[in-house]
Amino acid sequence: STIMVLNGPNLNLLGSREPEQYGHETLADVEALCADAAASLGHKVECHQSNHEGALIDLIHEAGRRIKAGEVLGVVFNPGAYTHTSIALHDAIKGAEVPVIEVHISNVHAREAFRHHSYISPVATGIVVGMGVQGYVLGIQGLVHKTNR
Ligand code: DQA
Repeated sequence: STIMVLNGPNLNLLGSREPEQYGHETLADVEALCADAAASLGHKVECHQSNHEGALIDLIHEAGRRIKAGEVLGVVFNPGAYTHTSIALHDAIKGAEVPVIEVHISNVHAREAFRHHSYISPVATGIVVGMGVQGYVLGIQGLVHKTNR
């Protein structure tokens, strides 16, 4: 089935944004990596990026509906800075009953204190932190493993 890969604010700048933190791969590179990882497990990906909290909430709701319809497995989600601020995304994931693997490219725990708390982690099925863009691949593998499909 389909795995939705969601990237939040500023992740459209991957490749040029703080490369010492996030590496040199672009969002297009990451999405290609995800497509390969999913294909090798017999699944496909649908990738979205938005800088808008409400648009991300709508995508989580869409994932919830499509999971119930049996066409989507779950979501691999890098919420960017909304990780540390968004009760609304927390509520959306909980309310729509969406299996989410939370991914952070950098090790947020080795960075500023304001990055240490996540509103997403308590409602996440699993978390991948500090593994670079490979974290998305690990997230896809983890989602398939945890959802047994
Ligand atoms: C991030 C970490 C967040 O703290 C930051 O705001 C991002 C990217 C990561 O992938 O490491 O935008 O989610």
